[in-house]
Amino acid sequence: MAMTMMTMTMPGFPPLSVVGLVFPSLLLLLFFLHRLISSIGNKTSKQPLKCYPLVASSIDIYRNRHRRNQWLSELLLQSPTATFVLQRPLGLRQVFTANPANVRHILKSHFHLYPKGLYLHTALSDFLGSGIFNSDGPHWKSLRQISSHEFNTKSLRTFVHSVVRSELSLRLLPILSSAASSSNSTLDLQDLLQRFAFDNICNITFGHDPRCLLPSLPNTLFASSFDDAVRISSERFNCVLPLFWKTKRFLNVGSERRLKKAISLVRDFARTIVKQKKKEFINLTNTNHPNNANNAAAQDLLSRLILSNNNGGEDDETLGVDMVISFILAGRDTTSAALTWFFWLVSRNPRVEAEILKEIKGIEEEGSRDDGGMMVYEEVRREMGYTEAALCESMRLYPPVPTDTKEAAEDDVLPDGTEVRKGTRVAYHPYTMGRMERDPYEYPVFQAGPRVCLGKDMAMLQMKSVVAGVMRRFRVVPVLAEGAEPVFIADLTAKMKGGFPVRIEARE
Ligand code: HEM
Ligand SMILES: *[C@@H]1O[C@H](CO)[C@@H](O)[C@H](O)[C@H]1NC(C)=O
Ligand SMILES: *[C@@H]1O[C@H](CO)[C@@H](O)[C@H](O)[C@H]1NC(C)=O
Ligand SMILES: *[C@@H]1O[C@H](CO)[C@@H](O)[C@H](O)[C@H]1NC(C)=O
Repeated sequence: MAMTMMTMTMPGFPPLSVVGLVFPSLLLLLFFLHRLISSIGNKTSKQPLKCYPLVASSIDIYRNRHRRNQWLSELLLQSPTATFVLQRPLGLRQVFTANPANVRHILKSHFHLYPKGLYLHTALSDFLGSGIFNSDGPHWKSLRQISSHEFNTKSLRTFVHSVVRSELSLRLLPILSSAASSSNSTLDLQDLLQRFAFDNICNITFGHDPRCLLPSLPNTLFASSFDDAVRISSERFNCVLPLFWKTKRFLNVGSERRLKKAISLVRDFARTIVKQKKKEFINLTNTNHPNNANNAAAQDLLSRLILSNNNGGEDDETLGVDMVISFILAGRDTTSAALTWFFWLVSRNPRVEAEILKEIKGIEEEGSRDDGGMMVYEEVRREMGYTEAALCESMRLYPPVPTDTKEAAEDDVLPDGTEVRKGTRVAYHPYTMGRMERDPYEYPVFQAGPRVCLGKDMAMLQMKSVVAGVMRRFRVVPVLAEGAEPVFIADLTAKMKGGFPVRIEARE
């Protein structure tokens, strides 16, 4: 009996006896390492990277974990080629670059050598499955083809426009309006914009209304679980050693336990909707001409994808769930981050504010209003050039995706001479690129090359609609101590630390 226990194996794991010995000592070692590094505290310095045996530069990484972007930026700006190599434990190296020639090499000319890779895939696959964000090779290519076809249809764009418009007039503007009429009410504009973006992207991707942006600002389970899943998944990247989170996952404790709960809630919910939609389509196509199904229900992305690849089956369902989750992730915190920083910058630049107002009012005077007095689709798309430029400029300084990581598939040498070994993670850093005075201006805020953001036009359309809708009626006044600057932080996407407290004033 004892023997069978001792030699019993689980698939993929060493015998229990080995696990019994190695595991506790490993945990103990990890625990001490963690304590050692933690005890060093938050001291931040602009000194060059320190590298020690065993822990390599982990101490600096840990010290700067609360200001990672700013720290990486300082290091990149100190380097003559805007590129440096970070040493991680166990001889692992990670390359960071803000050098335009390197970035072009990674994203475009040598795209095939720089997939997302195994490290990222392992950290994100519990949550994202094999969605477009988390896949490479032929699978990514086919997802990209299917999705980009749908993203590029005019009917999707008009649908997006109508979703944004109704959410603006029914949800966001009324909340701002009641804030404006009470003399003393401070709002967290970042929170409102995140709720707005979440309601929006859920309708666009799978025709669901999570009702996050209601006047009571409810805490909805789907949204908060999605939040937890993103945050904890991205904390996996910053773990000193991946073994640490993998051990926690194996033991189902701490943050990994919370992550598991959040993920299963989000994925189960998405699966319910995917199932429901498929059933609806089967009913519709059985009772009507297929074209009717097309017109009646194929508004959101999921419905479009189901209709264009209708072959049923369990696999298909998982693919649907993966797609939905990647799209929500893509569209959720990106536009809200961009708009949050935009409103902050506009409040500091009265000249820009005046130009934007002039542009919005100009279009309104000559334009063709719909019933709700809102701009129609073509106007928002074509005629807000100055506003679009201002949005781009604000994303240059505060990119919603401030850093992005690939993994070398082969040994390679970057244009600036940095050697890259197979398996090395290579990250480029738009946050720094937007702040480099010495190099030619480059703008990889939406990435570039074959994997460039699929939602760029959709995002621009949404953001311009929000800017026009809000600025035409209201002035956004930050409630910050005199001279205080909001702090830029990021997990997978950027945020304003602690939110963006504002007062809302009605114009005129
Ligand atoms: C200001 C807003 C946005 C910014 C700055 C932005 C930026 C980016 C970036 C940097 C990537 C590359 C990420 C990577 O490969 O690791 C990306 C990919 C992507 N974005 Fe956006 N995005 C925005 C809004 C949106 C919206 C609203 C959608 C709509 C769903 C969207 C859909 C996607 C998709 C599907 C991909 C994956 C493309 C692929 O891997 O082939 N994005 N975006
Ligand atoms: C380090 O900074 C974080 C966030 O700013 C703070 O919560 C924590 O208490 C700080 N730790 C020490 C040792 O100062
Ligand atoms: C999605 O938006 C459209 C257009 O405004 C609206 O008619 C529809 O009711 C919304 N769907 C959900 C589930 O909220
Ligand atoms: C405004 O609100 C703040 C905090 O909610 C409160 O401390 C303050 O007394 C209020 N002022 C007025 C004039 O109502």
